[in-house]
Amino acid sequence: MSQFMKNNTSLNKLESFDKMMQKKTSSMLGYPINTAQEYRDLYRFFDYSLINLGDPFVPSSYRINSEQFELEVLQFFAKLYKMPARDSWGYITSGGTEGNTHGIFVGRELYPDALLYFSKDTHYSISKIARLLNIQTVLVESQKNGEIDYTDLEKKIQKNKHLPVILNLNIGTTMKGAIDNVDAVVAILKRNNIRKYHIHCDAALFGMILPFVKGASRVDFQQPIGSLAISGHKFIGTHMPCGIALCRKQLVKWIETPIDYIGTHDTTITGCRNGHTPLFLWYAIQKRGLKGFSKEAHDCISNAKYLAEKLKKIHWPYFLNRFSNTVLFKKPSMKIITKWQLAVSRDWAHIVVMQSVTKESIDRFISDLILTA
Ligand SMILES: Cc1ncc(COP(=O)(O)O)c(C=O)c1O
Repeated sequence: MSQFMKNNTSLNKLESFDKMMQKKTSSMLGYPINTAQEYRDLYRFFDYSLINLGDPFVPSSYRINSEQFELEVLQFFAKLYKMPARDSWGYITSGGTEGNTHGIFVGRELYPDALLYFSKDTHYSISKIARLLNIQTVLVESQKNGEIDYTDLEKKIQKNKHLPVILNLNIGTTMKGAIDNVDAVVAILKRNNIRKYHIHCDAALFGMILPFVKGASRVDFQQPIGSLAISGHKFIGTHMPCGIALCRKQLVKWIETPIDYIGTHDTTITGCRNGHTPLFLWYAIQKRGLKGFSKEAHDCISNAKYLAEKLKKIHWPYFLNRFSNTVLFKKPSMKIITKWQLAVSRDWAHIVVMQSVTKESIDRFISDLILTA
């Protein structure tokens, strides 16, 4: 402990904050954050000003960086999402929102007059990005399960057939965990002879679940998608917000600018990027690997089914999509919402069954529901 802390009353404040965070962590069910991970082996690297600057594939003149780890992380994701070797590119972002911004920005630079299509169940970041980039939007109906309504999408694309299309597809919606079907959307574009399009996949949470579950609809770069964004602090649980943005290399050329001051190319949204988060992602990949991630994904889905069965038993209205760890249910009392940090939308709340949500915590939550019903 530093001399400053020994002599300072701030220590008490930090200690009580620590206790409070332990308590809050043990009662968090509503948000898709895996709080169960441990990264002590990496704490020594907080002594360095790790900053990754510019394009990770083009070394910059600032050398206190973790780009060698960033490249390994990107390799892992490029393989997971079947990116063709010669057309593979990505970078570690500050989170899902930045990855979405990057993907849609690339689409806008490719097709400046395109319209951006997305469903009503889409995360709020997408309409904000449209505002930031000054792109006209087309809001598409959702099906009851939260998936995009393909009939409405086709009707709206036909109405604007003369304009290019940027599509945001949800690979796991925020509230209902619904997955838009890439193949069905590509078929619509083909049927209507739309050649100028860019498909961005928002795979914030499910990007680390879908590759591991059999029978779920396919999402990868063997399909004509342009970009895909995943959050790192959600399923992987890096403790700090971060994300993975994947984009076809040939498309990144549309935004690339060489900058002499940093000695690299500007191809990212932010300038200086967090150099610690790539280390955390790398460490998680080494420690858990494909096998570990796969087991965790199956456990989350199985515990989500456990929660759904418990809700069914007490006749509490609920909904659970296939291949999803997000259980939607009728909004409970404010007391329960606060205690378990539930996310709510209108009359509904959800629990996102992450690695840190155990059968025991589900049982405790159900007991609380019964008491207040
Ligand atoms: C579907 C979806 N997209 C994007 C995001 C935004 O991700 P982040 O909070 O990492 O910016 C979220 C966050 O919950 C999400 O659920």
